[in-house]
Amino acid sequence: MSAIQHIGVLTSGGDAPGMNAATRAVVRTGIARGLKVTGIRRGYAGLLARDFEELKAPSVSNIIQLGGTVLKTSRCAPFFEPGPRAEAAESLAACEIDALIAIGGDGTFKGLHLLATEHSVPVIGIPGTIDNDIYGTDFTLGFDTAVNTALESIDKIRDTAASHDRIFFIEVMGRTCGAIALQVGLAGGAEAILVPEVPTDIEQLCDIIEQGRERGKTSFIIVVAEGDDAGGAATVGEEVRTRTGFDYRVSILGHVQRGGSPTAADRGLGSRMGRAAVDAALSCKTDVMTGVVCGETSLVPLPDTWEKKKPVDLDLLEIARITAS
Ligand code: F6P
Repeated sequence: MSAIQHIGVLTSGGDAPGMNAATRAVVRTGIARGLKVTGIRRGYAGLLARDFEELKAPSVSNIIQLGGTVLKTSRCAPFFEPGPRAEAAESLAACEIDALIAIGGDGTFKGLHLLATEHSVPVIGIPGTIDNDIYGTDFTLGFDTAVNTALESIDKIRDTAASHDRIFFIEVMGRTCGAIALQVGLAGGAEAILVPEVPTDIEQLCDIIEQGRERGKTSFIIVVAEGDDAGGAATVGEEVRTRTGFDYRVSILGHVQRGGSPTAADRGLGSRMGRAAVDAALSCKTDVMTGVVCGETSLVPLPDTWEKKKPVDLDLLEIARITAS
């Protein structure tokens, strides 16, 4: 008999479409393997408050198609203090939860790692963040949906940009990572994409717009990642106007990118990672994250997920530049 009889599951940090598919997979796989499964509401805040509920198979009916997270989430600063973390470990022990599965991003994983190392709690992480900035997996839950959501908006903005012969600076999410901007900029036919990984050259951006105009282009879509070093879409737009005199509009897509029904890719990813996480816990693996690399599920040590830098594919910038010119 495995040492693991009872697992807890929570979602933490920024919600991401596909988290519900992963929660469902954790619950249903756990039950299929003969385990008791407890849902912890509002992430680490709920762990501290012992906001627990046993989840049976029907508890996760009709959630695979839902955006957000039915378990709710939080960004819980107190959990990063040793005292509250010790209380959290006590809460798990008091409820006889043998292993904890947390779905979230790097902040979530740092907390999980501390629980494992300080209090010997068996833990498994599932990468859920629209940013796709976690090392050890090709895709994080929510990225594909966020890109498609942003793309829908950009296509609509292009209609009005073309009608008015306007330049639009469109800001997409990604505090420290340009993955969304790159993917959506390429797919949306953006004339330029600004990402945190590449220092912004305003002069070069003005040249792209001026040369485009000389070639007969009348409207432009410039995608700006929120973490871009030039200070965001509004600042970049103003800077371009100062230098070129061109009028512009700004659209900040914001949290709309985090919501909505998950794509098939995110539902599939959540389902695969949920099952892999339960099976990893049952095999007495701990302090690891489930990932999908080159189509195969894999496990990576939690510290690698934030200590190693996941490269973004900057080749997409070149493809976007050539194809939009
Ligand atoms: O990490 C996901 C993310 O959506 C980032 O892209 C964004 O910068 C951040 O969360 C926003 O966080 P909050 O909703 O807490 O303001």
